[in-house]
Order: sequence, then C-alpha cells, then structure tokens
Amino acid sequence: MAENNMVDKERYLDEIEDSIRTIGVLTSGGDAPGMNAAIRAVVRRALSKGLKVRGIRRGYHGLLKEEIIDLSARDVSDIIQRGGTVLQTARCKSMRTEEGQQKAAAICKKYGIDGLVVIGGDGSFAGAQKLANLGVNTIGVPGTIDLDIACTDYTIGFDTAVNTAMEAIDKVRDTSTSHERCSVIEVMGRDAGYLALWCGIANGAERILMPEEQDFDEKTLIEDIMENKKRGKKNYIIINAEGIGDSMNMAKRIEAATGIETRATILGHMQRGGSPTCKDRVYASVMGAMAVDLLCQGKTNRVVGYKDGEFVDYDIEEALAMKKTISEYQYNIAKSLAI
Ligand code: ADP
Ligand code: F6P
Repeated sequence: MAENNMVDKERYLDEIEDSIRTIGVLTSGGDAPGMNAAIRAVVRRALSKGLKVRGIRRGYHGLLKEEIIDLSARDVSDIIQRGGTVLQTARCKSMRTEEGQQKAAAICKKYGIDGLVVIGGDGSFAGAQKLANLGVNTIGVPGTIDLDIACTDYTIGFDTAVNTAMEAIDKVRDTSTSHERCSVIEVMGRDAGYLALWCGIANGAERILMPEEQDFDEKTLIEDIMENKKRGKKNYIIINAEGIGDSMNMAKRIEAATGIETRATILGHMQRGGSPTCKDRVYASVMGAMAVDLLCQGKTNRVVGYKDGEFVDYDIEEALAMKKTISEYQYNIAKSLAI
C-alpha cells in the first residue's frame, strides 16, 4: 500500500466545539491583495463544517454600524483573483475606546457571532484582542503589504505588492538610463523597510534607504552618486522607503549637489492594488481556512502566522510583543551587489 504522506491530519479532523455555530469575518486597516482569497476561504471552510457565516463590511467601523450580512458559498465566487477586499475596509477611531469595544462585543453577541476572523495588521489584532477579552472568540489573519507583523514571515499582500512595485521600478529604470539620470523611487511600507529592501535587491538599485538603517547620511549618498558616475554607470536608482520619505526634496537636493538630473517617483497606492499573485492566493486561502479551524477547536485570542516554513498560531498578546528586524546580512548583500 502506498505510504500516506499527508501530515497535519489532526488539524482538520478535530471535533467542532458546540459553542461555535456562526462565524463572522471582517477586513480592517489598509487593504491588501489576497484578502479576498482569505475571505473566500473563511466562508467556504466554515460552510463545509456546517457553520453559518456573517460578513462585516468596512472593518470595525461597519461592525459598530451593524453593517452585517449573511454570506453563502456563491457570495464569494469569482473573487479569489480580485485585488482589494469585497467586504471593504476602514480605520475606526471608536474601536480604540473602551466604549467602542464594548459596543462591538455586544453587537457580535446580538448577531450570534460566536467566532470572529479579523484580517488585518497589528492595529486590527489589538482590536481583536480587546474583543477576545470581552468574550468574543477572535482569530487574527495577517493582511498587510508592509510585512511588518513580527510573528510571521509572510503577510497577505506583500508578495503581490513587491512584484507590482518591482515591475514599476523596472519601467522607471528604462527612462532613467536613457537620460542618464538619478531616480529616487519611493515605495510604501509605513515604518518598515521590507518593500524597499526587496525592491532594492530585485531591481538592482544602487542604494536602498530604509527607516531601520541607523547610519543614513545624505552627504555620503551624494558622494557615492558622483563616484558611480566616474565608474561609468548610466544611472543611479535609489529605492526610498516611505518611512524615510521626503523624496521630492531629496531629488532636488541631489540634483543641486551633483549636477546630475534627478527625478522623484512616488509609487503610492498602485502598490496596494491588482490581482494577487499565486503565493498570496494560496497562503491567504490556507490562513483563512486555518482561522476557522482554530475557532472550531475552541481557540480564541490567537493570530495565524507563517514561521520557518510552517503555518502556526500565536497568542495575540505574545504576537504583538514580538519584535521584527531587517536582516543585516540581506542588507549587506544588497549593498555589495550595487557596485
Ligand atoms: P493595521 O491593522 O493594518 O495595523 P491600523 O493600525 O490602522 O491598521 O488599525 C486598524 C484598525 O484597528 C484601527 O482603525 C482601529 O479601529 C483598530 N485598532 C488599532 N489599534 C487598536 C487598539 N489599540 N485597540 C483597539 N482597536 C485598535
Ligand atoms: O499599511 C499599508 C499602507 O499602504 C502603508 O504602506 C501606508 O503607509 C499606509 O497603508 C497608507 O495608508 P492610506 O491608504 O490610509 O493612505
């Protein structure tokens, strides 16, 4: 008989906790490509286990406004390939207040939501943790293009966003080389430099500027641009992380100091849109389904992650306390490849 190589059987053969009958799902914070795949997985995994599913529109804002709809398997047809989030998303100030959190928990109870899947970033998880403390079973699924969630090596949307940015930067490079210019290209990432670092390596940038880099000094950057020209390079691409920002002024200062024509391009929200990559569709599907499985196992106040090649889950408090750093080694490699 052929050997059975399937692992993790116990994860899906677990009996469903009697207390879980209806699962709610919302997306919160910035949208990210792949969120739809996660929503679809939550809905279909729950339905396949005989549960009811409720979708909450516009994140915590919609929860507080009771924008709650029933979701069927057909409601999530034809969305896995679409960017954005069909449930829409929002940022919601009231959810940060105790009053807002209590109201949100009461609404979950009113609509019979026994378990809530929150797809978003650290801020959204903080909200989920508050709800868990108020008796709503919650599981977080990491969704952000910034990759800035410490408990996981993967976040929904990063792969698509970094590929979108990479393609755009290739195009800027074509024109920059033709004119022998210097280009400052700003990528998103909030306070984190992952998008910048990955694009920097993937696009063969001459310089990567990230908020995590402690020793950034514009004077040495300008000297390097001059040296680069002497070395016979036709252009100078700087990938500047949003956390450093100021790209327009930086370009003006570089041009004034070097005499080399310099242009700034801020890629902006185009990085957040578009059809998700295969990786984002697959990982988001697994994570969404796993969130349902965890709720069915009676777990709450957990966040799903991907660490060292495995899908895992952590206590939200533990996850939020973790620190994430940029790989010094990877950054040094990027520098040495830019000569
Ligand atoms: P992300 O989830 O991508 O980190 P935000 O930081 O904007 O995005 O958070 C999304 C939403 O989560 C906020 O608009 C707010 O409603 C909620 N939230 C953020 N921080 C907290 C907190 N400390 N307590 C409760 N809710 C929070
Ligand atoms: O967190 C995702 C992100 O796109 C960040 O990279 C960026 O700083 C922020 O959201 C932009 O937010 P908004 O869409 O509200 O301008």
